[in-house]
Formats: sequence, structure tokens, C-alpha cells
Amino acid sequence: MDRFVIEGGKKLKGEVTISGAKNSALPIIAAALLTDTPVILENIPDVVDVHTMVKLIKHHGAKVSFEKNTLTIHTPRIKNIEAPYDIVRKMRASYYVLGSLVGREKAARVSLPGGCAIGPRPIDLHIKGLKALGVEINIDEGYVNARAGHIAGDDINLLGAKGTSVGATINTMLAAVQASGRTRIISAACEPEVVDVANFLSILGADIQGAGSSVIVINGPRSLGGATYRIIPDRIEAGTFAVAAAITKGDVVIAGVLPQDMIAVLDKLEEIGAVIVREPDRVEVRGAQNLLSTAVYVAPFPGFPTDMQAQFMALLSVASGTSTVKETIFENRFMQAMELSRMGADIKIDGDTAVIRGVKRLSGASVMASDLRASACLVLAGLAARGKTVVRRIYHLDRGYDRFEKKLRFLGARIRRIKE
Ligand code: UD1
Repeated sequence: MDRFVIEGGKKLKGEVTISGAKNSALPIIAAALLTDTPVILENIPDVVDVHTMVKLIKHHGAKVSFEKNTLTIHTPRIKNIEAPYDIVRKMRASYYVLGSLVGREKAARVSLPGGCAIGPRPIDLHIKGLKALGVEINIDEGYVNARAGHIAGDDINLLGAKGTSVGATINTMLAAVQASGRTRIISAACEPEVVDVANFLSILGADIQGAGSSVIVINGPRSLGGATYRIIPDRIEAGTFAVAAAITKGDVVIAGVLPQDMIAVLDKLEEIGAVIVREPDRVEVRGAQNLLSTAVYVAPFPGFPTDMQAQFMALLSVASGTSTVKETIFENRFMQAMELSRMGADIKIDGDTAVIRGVKRLSGASVMASDLRASACLVLAGLAARGKTVVRRIYHLDRGYDRFEKKLRFLGARIRRIKE
């Protein structure tokens, strides 16, 4: 298992270009299964999760080439409707093939993804969405079996116990483009990645309105063709670099981004004292000598993203005063707190709230990453800490960050990967 060795204390300076959004790329690659015409996808991040999704769609019959962040996908016919446990267990987002296979073949057999480090992750809303379209669903041997003679649009309310769901909204859209009549998804997720998938489907020929709002209307079925489509920038990667600039008291231009998709994160950075200069496709972040404490309340878009919560915890652990972070979406997403404490952070967890008393400086330590964003948090802490930090289990980080340590090194960070 690879690890990072970081010598902390270096201010980051320079310009970094952000890669395409992993959380858009994954459903859009799955969505390419809906058409028998070739699709070209640009700005695909070269991350492990993308390779896993490519492996899965090849298994279903897609012919794929991946060169310089461009994927070409052609699926003349679906050869296999089963998404096997061996692939699905590596990545929950594999469930996106469920919507595409139901849309195209009216049948799918997809392994249940199971839980993960950040808490239980049910798929009841995905199933609710498909059932509303007339799909018969049963679960056997750990697989979701979906079958329908015909799928038809309906009103579907996707509000769950924890709010709405990005994954269920997208999966329902993927199937609904081939349902007859009108589908209305109510309490739809409003995340930019949902909009990106809807834009891609529209270019293929689907009729979708309202993506980005809480009601999405789809008229189907439509015959879908090919397209060349560019994935939006990764707002979470961009936010991570913004925190890297702030935590090292550096000065970084983050290029190739959509600042309007990052408002909650940029506003929070400004509130605690960082200087933010926003331009249409780039953001400059300058760290302050003294960062202030704040209260972070995680919420669905346009609220503060759960995927930035861990990185902010690293930042707030060196901000003066007492901060709080309330995680409202995932139950067990404070795994980074214990490891940060080993680096000298003062963090108490009380249910869904972390109370963070800022310390002057973190100190380097050997720490273990537990999930994707927790890994990023520990790297950020290591960049700011005195001395040497070793972050183990960085395979989590490789799932979602494209050339992370190379981009950081380019900004002056002292970080190297030790291969094992
Ligand atoms: C996506 C993102 C993930 C991000 C999350 C929330 C991808 C590949 N992953 O995950 O990075 O952290 O959105 O912004 O895009 N829920 C149910 N029933 C369901 C589905 C979800 O109760 O059927 C719950 C979840 O347990 C969670 C909440 O709803 O508490 C939101 O989850 P959801 O938006 O579905 O997250 P994902 O789409 O899995």
C-alpha cells in the first residue's frame, strides 16, 4: 500500500488546474450505456474510480478507449445485464449502471454495494425511483434484480430520512429518459453533478427540464444518439486546493473552475479570514496569518458540501478560537478526527457535531487514511504541520484525486509517494 511522506511548513504558491469532476464522470460514463452510438467524453479525471467504472461498462459490452483524459465509449449492444459483486464492492457508484440498464434493456441485476467507512448507505430511494416507473424489483443473493415489460413516467418523491439523494436522483433520471410519458422527480438533488448528467442526456437527445432545482421533469421515451461532451470541473478538488492555500498561508490560483459551484466553501474561507479573488473561471486564495473560528453546517447543495467537511476540519484545527462542524448527511464521517488529534488537534465529537479548539500548530505524525476525503484532510494537516507526516492507505485518495501529490509539488509542497 502506497503512502505519502510530507515535510510540513511550506507555503503553497502558484497556479493549479483542476481536473474534471469525479462525481459527474462516474454517472455520465454509466449513462453512455443508454445509447448504441459512440460517445466522446472530455475532461475525465484519471482516477481509480473512473477505471473501475470503465471496467464495469466493458463488462456490460461497451468498447472503451481512454487517452489523455478523453474517453470514447461505444456500446452497440448490451452483452450482460449483471454488475458483479467483485466490481461493485470496490465502488458504490457502480449502482449507476442500474438506471442505465433499466433504461436500455428494461432489466438489470446489480450487486448490492453494502456499507462503507462513512456510515450505512442504503439504496431504498434508488429502488423507490425505479419502482415508480413500473420496474419490478426483488433482492436475492445480495443482488438487486430489476425487470419491466414496459416503463412509464410518474410523479416520484425522492425525499428520504436524510433529505434527498444525489445517486437516487441520477439513477431515476437515467431510467426515466426511456420511460413513456412524463416523469416528475420531486425533492430532486440540486448538485451541479446532477445538472451535468442532465445536460449530457439532453445532448444525447433526452427531454429533461428543471435539473438544478428540486423538481426535474423528463418526457420520454426518446431515441438517443451520440455526443461529444466535456465534464464540469471538480468543485471538491478545487475546494481541497483552496484549503491547502489557506492552511499553509500561501497564495494559490485555482484555475479551470466554476466559482458559482463553490460558493459555500469560498464564503466560509472568506469568513475565517482568507482573501478570495473570484474570476469567471478561476479563484485566487490567499491565506491569512491568523485564521478565525467558525461554525460549519453541512447541507445539500448549495449548502456546505459533506465532501469538504474533513478538509475544513484540518483547517479549523489551526484557526484561533472554538469552531463547530455539524455533519447532517452521513452518520460516521468524523473518522479523520482521531488521526488529526494524533497530530495535536483538539477535537471533541458529540453526536453529529465536532467541537474544534484551534491550536497554534499541528505536529507531524504517522497517520492512517480511512476514506477518500479523510485522506485529503490528513494530507492538508501534514502540509501545515511542523516536521514529518506519513499518511498511510492513500489508495483511498487515489480513488478521487487526479495526480494529487504532483499538483501539490508543483505548488511547492514537499510531498512524496513511497510505493509498496
Ligand atoms: C454522492 C457523492 C458523495 C457525496 C454525496 C452527498 C458520488 C459518486 N458520490 O453520494 O461524494 O458525499 O453524494 O453529497 O456522486 N440515502 C438514503 N437512501 C438512498 C440513498 C441515500 O437514505 O437510497 C441517504 C444516504 O445514506 C445519505 C443521504 O441520503 O445519508 C445522501 O446520500 P446521497 O446523496 O445518495 O449520496 P451518494 O449519491 O451515495
